[in-house]
Amino acid sequence: MLQGERIALRPFRESDFDAWYRLMAEDVEVSIAGSGTWLPQTVEAARHRWHSILDASPDDRINFAVTIDDRCIGSIAIKFIDRRSQNAWLAIVLDSTQLGQGYGRDAVNTLLRWAFMIENFHRISLDTWSTNERAIRCYKAAGFVEEGRMREAAWVNGQRVDIVEMGVLRPEWLERQQRS
Ligand SMILES: CC(C)(COP(=O)(O)OP(=O)(O)OC[C@H]1O[C@@H](n2cnc3c(N)ncnc32)[C@H](O)[C@@H]1OP(=O)(O)O)[C@@H](O)C(=O)NCCC(=O)NCCS
Repeated sequence: MLQGERIALRPFRESDFDAWYRLMAEDVEVSIAGSGTWLPQTVEAARHRWHSILDASPDDRINFAVTIDDRCIGSIAIKFIDRRSQNAWLAIVLDSTQLGQGYGRDAVNTLLRWAFMIENFHRISLDTWSTNERAIRCYKAAGFVEEGRMREAAWVNGQRVDIVEMGVLRPEWLERQQRS
């Protein structure tokens, strides 16, 4: 288990499925914020997807449950892992009842500590919608900087939005740790 300030990251368990289903399949707001869309899914289809995500090769994707007191409140992962370039992409989603309380930056920071210090990544990348201000503020608070925008590249919830490309490098992150 990776202990953050208030959250902990641990492997998913079969008993986390209900929390994951609420998050990924029932919560329209969170689903649109994360993937741009929401489609109704049966429990069976969602369980199939859950297994395909959790069973992905760790060479491609590594998943963590975000927990408080061992209760799953979200999911954070690195994906598109490129070991030669020491780069990977971050994806995070929290239960909508838990947003805006600092758990996101705590989870991102905890994941970055693991990625940079234990797994020896050099860079973590992500992208998000320009309208997802909460996510952008969370990522900036964890050390990400905006590196570019794909203008009007996505249609999200009734409007055309930019895709914001962000990244954090290990030396920058280490420097921030030493300053704080
Ligand atoms: C993105 C996400 C992981 C961030 O985690 P979080 O715990 O909500 O974020 P934090 O509390 O650490 O930080 C949120 C920041 O946004 C601010 N904020 C909160 N609600 C906001 C809102 N409705 N609009 C704009 N900013 C908001 C907070 O004040 C805080 O900024 P500050 O510390 O500079 O004041 C989480 O909100 C989430 O899962 N959202 C739904 C799915 C999603 O968007 N995933 C990311 C896809 S790229």
